[in-house]
Amino acid sequence: MKKLMDVIRAELEQAFTEAGYEASYGKASLSNRPDLCEYQCNGAMAAAKAYHCAPIQIAEKVAQRLENSPVFLEVQAVKPGFINLKLSPACVRDYLQSMAKEEKLGCETVEKPKTIILDYGGPNVAKPLHVGHLRSAIIGESIKRLGRFLGHKMIGDIHLGDWGLQMGLIITELRHRRPELVYFDESYEGEYPAEAPFTISELEEIYPTASARSKEDEAYREEAMEATYLVQHGHRGYQAILQHILTVSVTDLKRNYANLQVEFDLWKGESDAQPYIPDMVQAMKDQGFAYESEGALVVDIKEETDTKEVPPCMLLKSDGASLYTTTDLATIVERMKLYHPDEIVYVVDKRQEMHFVQVFRCARKTGLVDADTSLRFLGFGTMNGRDGKPFKTREGGVMRLEHLIADINEEMYEKIRENTEIPEEEARRTARITGLSAIKYGDLSNQASKDYVFDVERFTSFEGDTGPYLLYTIVRIKSILAKYEEQGKNPEQAGIREPRSESEKALMLEAAKFNSVMETAYAELAPHKICAYLYDLANGFNKFYHETRILKEEDQERQEGWIALLVLCRRILETCIGILGFEAPERM
Ligand code: ARG
Repeated sequence: MKKLMDVIRAELEQAFTEAGYEASYGKASLSNRPDLCEYQCNGAMAAAKAYHCAPIQIAEKVAQRLENSPVFLEVQAVKPGFINLKLSPACVRDYLQSMAKEEKLGCETVEKPKTIILDYGGPNVAKPLHVGHLRSAIIGESIKRLGRFLGHKMIGDIHLGDWGLQMGLIITELRHRRPELVYFDESYEGEYPAEAPFTISELEEIYPTASARSKEDEAYREEAMEATYLVQHGHRGYQAILQHILTVSVTDLKRNYANLQVEFDLWKGESDAQPYIPDMVQAMKDQGFAYESEGALVVDIKEETDTKEVPPCMLLKSDGASLYTTTDLATIVERMKLYHPDEIVYVVDKRQEMHFVQVFRCARKTGLVDADTSLRFLGFGTMNGRDGKPFKTREGGVMRLEHLIADINEEMYEKIRENTEIPEEEARRTARITGLSAIKYGDLSNQASKDYVFDVERFTSFEGDTGPYLLYTIVRIKSILAKYEEQGKNPEQAGIREPRSESEKALMLEAAKFNSVMETAYAELAPHKICAYLYDLANGFNKFYHETRILKEEDQERQEGWIALLVLCRRILETCIGILGFEAPERM
């Protein structure tokens, strides 16, 4: 379905042509004087230069042509040459009626769907999930859902950090604690136990202990590095432990992500890329891209236009070990081979930007990706506490994701209890639903690349630009519709009518922006644009609601029109929050 702006533009273009000017001057934009008009066209100003006459003359001629236009109620040429526009109520009604008929509310499915791999989440196995991984999960999930909504084939890959020193550290610590375990018996040739020798809580204690010790104890650290090398080079017993770590960790991660309503299509990790490394490195050497520099193997990726220094991309260290970069390059090889993506998008902390500049340039230069496969880095900022420093627990430690969620849910629970009398169990469930909206909306409503302050107090408020405010608005609409149904009428059968009040029209115009907002948000990978739209729409609805006695209205036809508008707004709001990755409760 055409965007409303395009409907307006087509009408303007025709008027410019008829008045004897080039059609391209007929562009419209949202009015920056909403007190005077809804849309405006500044084309006469630009045309004046080309046609050597006063802009107001052109504006007047064009306005004349639009006098009987079905699209506009009012067209005014004002000095020095603006054309102020108000839409006709019938046009607005028709537009919304068409929207309501469409399953995707006027949003088009892309003609040529792309296959897009979304690399997000990126937790590190055996380390507890912390708030740093929250942003990637939340932003990535919403982009995946948005892309899918528009018809792309989105493949979400968690890309586990499962190939680092942390594995060696855990093995070493385990070896110190329980040397009798069969994994450490070098002469053992049988099958290893199916059951892991630790639980998730033990694992989460083992890693920090080992990590702390390795920082003080040189010999211990070397042992851990040795273990890392061995596990990466096929040591049977250690690999069996690695499998246990993965199984135990992944089970726990799945539970955590499920609570966040984040779902991955692929649970691959850095380790999956390792088999591709030797051939990839060999090919880069054979083709003359990789050369030795101070013992290490590197690829030059400088470009003439660089304003900052971009260091060479290192493939192998002097001891032959591969690096984070090598793994990411090999992951590209694997992804190209298995999925032939048109695009790979990385949702990662913006502090890793240089790493991705290196990876992308190296992948392009050495031909790992097809020329028409694009690589995009969506870097996000840090989530800070109210003190402006990276978010911590009250004691100053790293905040575990589970604890953060529990804190928010508790806060929401208190608020819901104050607000309504609903049974305990429902209050708990509603607290979880609204709590998730508080966290996700609080995050997504900021431009991803910016740092932001995670403010529990503000995010959980029912007022202002928050998730709970949106849910509250949806719940309010649902409740009006339920009461209407109780009067024996069917909201689904109501038809949208022409707007009669200012606030009604304003709400309708806001609703009409849906398809355009979705497309822009996707093109710019900018979920915050959906948030801003949701907030405007919710405000538009609440203003209308406070000025209109919907259920008491005696004019049936008017009432029906309003109810149909509410049904449409609810659909838009619910579609949008679904894309952002949360949902609304029945009441709150
Ligand atoms: N595991 C990494 C970290 O915690 C993030 C992984 C991001 N994705 C990637 N392909 N490098 O920093």
